[in-house]
Amino acid sequence: MMRTNRFKNIFIATLTVGIVATLYSCNQQKEEVIAKSAAEIVVNGEMEAELTSPPNVPKPVGKRPAKKLIVHMEVLEQVGEMTGGVEYVYWTFGGTVPGSFIRTRVGDEVEFHLENHPNNKLPHNIDLHAVTGPGGGASSSFVAPGHKAKFSFKVLNPGLYVYHCATAPVGMHIANGMYGLILVEPEGGLPKVDREYYVMQGDFYTKGANGERGLQPFDMQKAVDEDADYVVFNGSVSALTGNNALTAKVGETVRLYVGNGGPNLVSSFHVIGEIFDAVYVEGGSMVNENVQTTLIPAGGAAIVEFKVDVPGTLVLVDHSIFRAFNKGALGMLNVEGEENKQIYSGTIEEGIYLPEGGGIQSMPGDSKPMEVVAAKSREEKIKFGREIYMQTCFACHQGEGQGVPNAFPPLANSDYLNADVDRAIDIVLHGLSGEITVNGVKYNSVMTSQTLTDEEIANVLTYVYDSWGNNKSDVTPMMVTKRRSAH
Ligand code: CU
Repeated sequence: MMRTNRFKNIFIATLTVGIVATLYSCNQQKEEVIAKSAAEIVVNGEMEAELTSPPNVPKPVGKRPAKKLIVHMEVLEQVGEMTGGVEYVYWTFGGTVPGSFIRTRVGDEVEFHLENHPNNKLPHNIDLHAVTGPGGGASSSFVAPGHKAKFSFKVLNPGLYVYHCATAPVGMHIANGMYGLILVEPEGGLPKVDREYYVMQGDFYTKGANGERGLQPFDMQKAVDEDADYVVFNGSVSALTGNNALTAKVGETVRLYVGNGGPNLVSSFHVIGEIFDAVYVEGGSMVNENVQTTLIPAGGAAIVEFKVDVPGTLVLVDHSIFRAFNKGALGMLNVEGEENKQIYSGTIEEGIYLPEGGGIQSMPGDSKPMEVVAAKSREEKIKFGREIYMQTCFACHQGEGQGVPNAFPPLANSDYLNADVDRAIDIVLHGLSGEITVNGVKYNSVMTSQTLTDEEIANVLTYVYDSWGNNKSDVTPMMVTKRRSAH
């Protein structure tokens, strides 16, 4: 019995090895055929590549034949805004972070021109993950300021690929924003969708803590420690919020080309309020369906697709969630159109739920308040105030100060607010619970006391009073200090 079994096992094992070997060699042959055919596609004419700044992407390749595609990419080192009052010297491909989007197709022969602007201080190069060849082009594209280099490559594999600078110290060049995406469409192009956008995550390391104002230099030690001050989409905290939000209409299909430049952090990419109908996993050819969150490695990418069915604001986040709400990895997609109550009812019933009694909760305080650079003008005060509003007040009182019906009173055109500035200061300082009437409507909710400095409270209230039809009251830090000591 034993003997027969063993024999049988050996037979099955041999058979399995045989089948696997056959499959393997078949697969290899298939791959060789693909690689060979892509390499052998003859180009038909030449054209200058359309390059776009994020969040836009160039026109789809559609059915166009393979061509010699000429790409001119200029490296620019320039100061940009990380968030309100915080500036950073970005190193860029094409003047933006991420760099210009490049769209090619399998069989294209890319003639790549890298130009390092004479005003730049450092040499740079480019490593495109879509290149089959040493360093992805890096060794052929090293250029000093005021110089240019040219190399060419045949586009062999379809997919969404990262490109980045690979000049030493490589981590520093990437940390300063030197990355972007190159899309290689298959023969005949990707399926048609209604909207396409370009979103790329990156982590940033500054000498000052998150929110500390002024021109912030890169911090090498924090980068080595992977201790990011900012994690953002498209190079800055508000690149995809407010007026910069992405847009779509109910019923449309949306495709996001999502990259992660790193240099360090892996992204748990998620869209709050949506499910990805399709994900081209890691930007390759495998398509997964019905995905909530997709992992995008540093130096990797993914293509996600979804249909927007109901109106509202979808929120793009890295679901390592403190990055989203505290470090900036948050973007918005505003969807306009008709409600569909069958898909989403909206709130059906709402009431007050306070199991721990009516005590006002407070946010955990920092033992040492951060030093804040004073605003130099009313204009700057309003600008800084808006940043605080977006971080602290936005969730309840909403983007246009409209509040949430039956829950959070409006700040826009608010008779309650405009009647008494000191009362408004007290509420931000100490919180508020109990019934109040705003513009003739009763509200009975809880606002927590906010851990903000006097200057920050002055800024955010001045912003609120300056916005949405309020009475333009100016709130000074001194006024806040007075109210604070009055209690
Ligand atoms: Cu560089």
